[in-house]
Amino acid sequence: MMHSMANCFVTRELPGSALERLAAEHGVDAWDGDLPPPREDLLERARDAEGLLCLLTDQIDAELFDHCPDLRAVANLAVGTDNIDLEEAARRGIAVGNTPGVLTETTADLAFALILACSRGLLQAAAAVRAGEWRTWEPAGWLGHDVHGATLGIVGAGQIGKAVARRAQGFGMRVLLNGSAPAPDRVSLEELLTESDIVSLHAPLSAETRHLIDADAMRSMKPTAVLVNTGRGELVDPKALRRALEEGWIAAAGLDVTEPEPLPRDDPLLSAPNLTVLPHIGSASHAAREAMAGLAVDNLLAALAGRPMPHPVGVPAAGRG
Ligand code: DGY
Repeated sequence: MMHSMANCFVTRELPGSALERLAAEHGVDAWDGDLPPPREDLLERARDAEGLLCLLTDQIDAELFDHCPDLRAVANLAVGTDNIDLEEAARRGIAVGNTPGVLTETTADLAFALILACSRGLLQAAAAVRAGEWRTWEPAGWLGHDVHGATLGIVGAGQIGKAVARRAQGFGMRVLLNGSAPAPDRVSLEELLTESDIVSLHAPLSAETRHLIDADAMRSMKPTAVLVNTGRGELVDPKALRRALEEGWIAAAGLDVTEPEPLPRDDPLLSAPNLTVLPHIGSASHAAREAMAGLAVDNLLAALAGRPMPHPVGVPAAGRG
């Protein structure tokens, strides 16, 4: 069926050729800055858009919807949609889509890389070599904690959490899952935190999960434990994490996501010991990012043609009024 050409605003240039498919059918205006469009530019450039392809760095809320009366479809270039007011979009009949599946294994790879790096102090050891501190082979130097055979607690047993659990099998780990996992692997968060040698966070961000890992949670972890977060920065209370590392409540932490993002270089958290911070690169492989762009465009093309998005995002049960 023929459908008319729609205006689309895309908030950043994307890897691969997905945008060409969008531009073949619709009018595409793409923000060409390296940084996200400032709020005023976003509101102005998206004003006449029927389709919006946005990033997790764009806040998509009632104010934006008020500015964009023609908006029918929002495609987020991410699996997480905490940057979008889903209830408000649903109320206005605006379709929202995300990019699940294609980044699952890539993000799980990075979570496992952080598990290994933090448990064995890889980045600190590599930095010491460059600083001229490799004097000899030391029997008691650079000692870390074994990953193989350790107990791994996975908070949020969605696609990515389960992909991390699969990797853990190869390392002979005992895996504890919290969230929607089936028994007998499913345990309470309290049990997971006290039992695990490594805790890896994969829960979506919501009002219920904000600062899920707070001071009490970290105090209940083993002093030898490693905390890894590749989900959303706000899952962890950053002030409590700083104290946890400084006072030895836990041994190390690896964060691919922070609160805020980007983390300023003078943020107090960065002075904490045994902390590795990456710039939110969980899905940053060529293949995953091109596939994400492809799914985001698929979502937009479907909705603009009056079809259901292949990857729609509904209002989470807890958010339904
Ligand atoms: C997501 O998809 O939600 C990640 O944070 C970025 O890939």
